[in-house]
Amino acid sequence: MIQAFHVYKQYDRESVALSDITLHVEKGEFCFLTGPSGAGKTTFLKLVFREELPSQGQILVGGRNVTAIPEAQIPELRRSIGVVFQDFKLLKRKTILENVAFVLRILAVPHKEQKRRAFNALKAVGLHHKMHAYPMQLSGGEQQRVAIARALINEPMLLLADEPTGNLDPGMAQEIMTLFQEVNARGTTVLVATHDREMIQRMGKRVITIQRGRVNE
Ligand SMILES: Nc1ncnc2c1ncn2[C@@H]1O[C@H](COP(=O)(O)OP(=O)(O)O)[C@@H](O)[C@H]1O
Ligand SMILES: [Mg+2]
Repeated sequence: MIQAFHVYKQYDRESVALSDITLHVEKGEFCFLTGPSGAGKTTFLKLVFREELPSQGQILVGGRNVTAIPEAQIPELRRSIGVVFQDFKLLKRKTILENVAFVLRILAVPHKEQKRRAFNALKAVGLHHKMHAYPMQLSGGEQQRVAIARALINEPMLLLADEPTGNLDPGMAQEIMTLFQEVNARGTTVLVATHDREMIQRMGKRVITIQRGRVNE
């Protein structure tokens, strides 16, 4: 699902964020990307999502070379990838149901179908009873779950999550991981960046470690 070949990323002259990263994530796999703060985890996810371009090297996602696809095909690529980033904010003036349905609106999915799918996605994260609430009326953990529902609504081939449990209590963090496992069982490949060693050990999945921009598996 993800094939990275000798990927380098340098944002500026002084520092190299990723240095000769070669790694593979199989279709249907659930794996963790870990390493200390500043190791390059977020950068790697951004390359997969084509939010950044590598300085050198190639990345294939679902067999497509995302480092070479034309601008016009980026939206289509992104729709096939669910993303949960910590700074992906919810729209304040929209209810959580509208937040989750938003992508479908852009895709011109019929209104009734939007509502049905958004409701089901919220149900999957246990928040359907709050569908008419606004983001500000929810706790941080609940907002995070809305962001996850939003990422999953399109049944993406790949789910990328960046420190998805960072501001959640342990019980909630475990629930989110269980949810990811269910999504994975339905066929979505899952890649989670985290520095939570305990969580990683509990889950018993494959772990890719990066340190100072290099893979250390
Ligand atoms: N937009 C950016 N501009 C310049 N340097 C950046 C940028 N984003 C990240 N970096 C640098 O790249 C390195 C890797 O960062 P990051 O990918 O965020 O690591 P991690 O997610 O593992 O903490 C760090 O040294 C960081 O300062
Ligand atoms: Mg990060």
